[in-house]
Amino acid sequence: EVVVLDYGGQYSQLIARRVRELGVFSELLPHHVGVEEVRRRNPKGLILSGGPASVYAPGAPRLDPELLELGIPVLGICYGMQALVLTLGGKVEGAEIGEFGRSTLTVAEPGRLLAGTPETQQCWMSHRDTVYEAPEGFTALASSTESPVAAVENPERGLYGIQYHPEVVHTPYGQQVLTTFLEDIAGASRTWSAANIIDEQVDAIRKQVGDSKVICGLSGGVDSSVAALLVHRAVGDQLTCVFVDHGMMRQDEGEQVIRAFRDQFHVPLVAVDAEQRFLERLKGVSEPEAKRKAIGAEFIRVFEEEAAKIGDAKFLVQGTLYSDVIESGGGTGAATIKSHHNVGGLPEDMEFQLVEPLRALFKDEVRAVGAELGLPEKFVWRQPFPGPGLAIRVVGGEATKERLDTLRAADFILQDEIRKAGLYRELWQSFCVLPDIRTVGVQGDERTYGYVVAIRAVTSDDAMTADWARLPYDLLEQIASRMINEIREVNRVVLDITSKPPGTIEWE
Ligand code: XMP
Repeated sequence: EVVVLDYGGQYSQLIARRVRELGVFSELLPHHVGVEEVRRRNPKGLILSGGPASVYAPGAPRLDPELLELGIPVLGICYGMQALVLTLGGKVEGAEIGEFGRSTLTVAEPGRLLAGTPETQQCWMSHRDTVYEAPEGFTALASSTESPVAAVENPERGLYGIQYHPEVVHTPYGQQVLTTFLEDIAGASRTWSAANIIDEQVDAIRKQVGDSKVICGLSGGVDSSVAALLVHRAVGDQLTCVFVDHGMMRQDEGEQVIRAFRDQFHVPLVAVDAEQRFLERLKGVSEPEAKRKAIGAEFIRVFEEEAAKIGDAKFLVQGTLYSDVIESGGGTGAATIKSHHNVGGLPEDMEFQLVEPLRALFKDEVRAVGAELGLPEKFVWRQPFPGPGLAIRVVGGEATKERLDTLRAADFILQDEIRKAGLYRELWQSFCVLPDIRTVGVQGDERTYGYVVAIRAVTSDDAMTADWARLPYDLLEQIASRMINEIREVNRVVLDITSKPPGTIEWE
């Protein structure tokens, strides 16, 4: 394992992901964890991330010099390198001009770290403070356009630093430098793979669960699907999945879930068609939060009823990911059930212990594990979908069956065209919104008074920020004309060009 200490850099998670992509398990820890925390993990290597602070700013995160005495090879990146250099007595100062974006690295002496990379290479920089002198005992390996010292090393002590970001794609030799650090310098074994994750998790689940019964709320999203399959592989029919179709799903989605889990994987599955109940419950509800609450509460009720029928299940499967764990401040497995936004929150008084087989994984790894387990491509690459489903996309009004059906039909056309254009995976989300208004149109010499469909397509890495996707005009035209021709109720199509912030991804 390799520990990445997070100094608050924009790319810290990306560093941890890159290391894993190279086959080495890595963990992201806040920079202030003590030396003991790090030592206890017995890592092969330690990476210090970049960060937004100036090493001189009051309160700037410090590097504990003891971390450099553990005998574990250290690679400081950007802020991490500056902290390393400063701690060991080198010279770091604020520069007149910053160095942001593409830069050229000139290698004077490749040393161990830059071995095998060219004398001149492109790299990606993002800093204002600059290293002017390497600490005693260190070799300055390279400089860049604005940085006199852009890479340093002291192989005897196992200490290395680079000013540029090896983790971003704009640094073509970044992967190579990381590989050199991990393999040649740290001697980490490259055994982190989907197949190994499955073996490890299957063992861990068996140990945790024993011969108890387990239930899983399956939504059809990639996280709950992969979590369910892992648990099923581990304990077979001790697992029962509960799939609540609240009628707010996309077209054919319910059937796909049933077909995959029941017919293909033979997972015991209780599928509840609860459309009527949810429609009843949503009558007269148009305020967004009220809709969410109504759906969440109804969901719990249905889930409880089904869980009671299954009886005496001790464990509940949750598809919590590593990014959720980091965001909520890390820590060890939560003992009580926190409200899981995907299923609208489960009741506090259901006393389950949680099984969270994806807790250590990034989304890309979840997809890889899903693919390795034979999960159909449609599930593996499914875009995120909100728990309350299409109800929060019938905006400004009540989610009636008629409106939901119209929206579902429009959404189906959108997805179909986007898939055909080969853009589905590139988009974080693509969906339609149906505002509760009608507009006038003319079709076949007749006046129409129909629904407006809005197209929302965004790119994003984590849904915290998003940009509207520049879909090709011809594709937009094809989508709009199909919607208007194929759906009677629709006579107008518009495109949402708001990024996040200021807009949210969903409209409600
Ligand atoms: P917003 O609209 O806040 O959405 O930019 C960010 C991401 O979260 C999804 N989302 C939800 N997911 N339950 C969920 O499980 C919800 O109530 C919910 N609301 C928004 C949204 O689709 C986007 O991916």
